[in-house]
Amino acid sequence: MKTKILEITDPQKDMSAIRYAAEVIKNGGLVAFPTETVYGLGCNALDIHAASKIYEAKGRPSDNPLIVHLSDPSRVEEYVYLEDPLAKVYMDHFWPGPLTLVMKKKPIIPDSVTAGLSTVGIRCPSHAVARLLIQKAGVPIAAPSANLSGRPSTTEASHVIDDLNGKVDVILCGGNSVYGLESTVLDITRKPAVILRPGFITLEDLSFINPDTIQASDTSMKDGIPKAPGMKYRHYAPRAKMLLLRGEPVKVSEYVDGIYEKKEGEKACVLTVEEWTHYFKGKRVFDLGPMTDASRIAGNLFSVLRKIDKTDINVIYATYLEGKGLYTSIMNRMKKAAGENVMNL
Ligand code: TXA
Ligand code: MG
Repeated sequence: MKTKILEITDPQKDMSAIRYAAEVIKNGGLVAFPTETVYGLGCNALDIHAASKIYEAKGRPSDNPLIVHLSDPSRVEEYVYLEDPLAKVYMDHFWPGPLTLVMKKKPIIPDSVTAGLSTVGIRCPSHAVARLLIQKAGVPIAAPSANLSGRPSTTEASHVIDDLNGKVDVILCGGNSVYGLESTVLDITRKPAVILRPGFITLEDLSFINPDTIQASDTSMKDGIPKAPGMKYRHYAPRAKMLLLRGEPVKVSEYVDGIYEKKEGEKACVLTVEEWTHYFKGKRVFDLGPMTDASRIAGNLFSVLRKIDKTDINVIYATYLEGKGLYTSIMNRMKKAAGENVMNL
């Protein structure tokens, strides 16, 4: 397939590109587009056949449901039942923005979008291009992150081109994602409400609205069934093997000294924060930003993992970051990238 790659520098001036992409969506095609969290790969959420094209393009297991994106929160009741009295409160507080609410779906949302679940995750993105694309298409857009399944999410147009050129109809290039981490997924069909995937909106933020909110543990399974279908898959993974080292930086540095490139063929690097780079002198070091700036670290994570993938590095020694709030979300992604490979030192 020939992918049309369209640059959007100013959403108003480049409206013809957005209109073109909206037509593609209406006609059952696939469009990758920027959002404030990560790039999404979208299709018409009301078309029973379109979702299967997304699963195929991404190589995504078809039991992992898609998030449905709306531009107008006031239309949410066309698609879901607002059973939780707090549903509207969450929407008023956090939409448009990086919060996905899992609610009971109405029959208009096809099973192919929700992987057969009776619930659907809905989100109103704040990114101008995403909003205009949904508006012009005149339908809600189902979109997972625009990466090949299992790979780090895409936060820059070049990442999307690397993964999906030739596999989708259109890629709308709209600069770098501001957050760089996928939305927080909150299941409000459960009591208490459960954060299935932490993101920029944290447990602390959500507890403000409902103090009973809980955070699902990263690998939480109930009778072998993951609470969020996406939980059971290896995610965000760089090609290199990644090991997370948890402990004081001095200890981590001693440990790394002992094993760094000692194995035949190992091409290693250290992934850490700015303040700790000096512990790893003489090694290849990638830093995620200043330790105290969680937003920057979150925003850099996927692009740094993708940068490492462009080198010959085959082992990443990453330092574990302690902390609450956004640090929990960052560590959720890093643990998954490391395939839960964490060593306590
Ligand atoms: O920020 C984001 O959420 C991005 C942008 C494009 O909006 N999208 C995104 O989609 O990250 P995806 O498909 O990569 O991740 C969606 C996550 C998966 O872990 C999936 O299992 C979960 O949300 N999810 C979706 N619908 C669900 C449902 N009905 N019940 C439980 N989990 C659901
Ligand atoms: Mg994803």
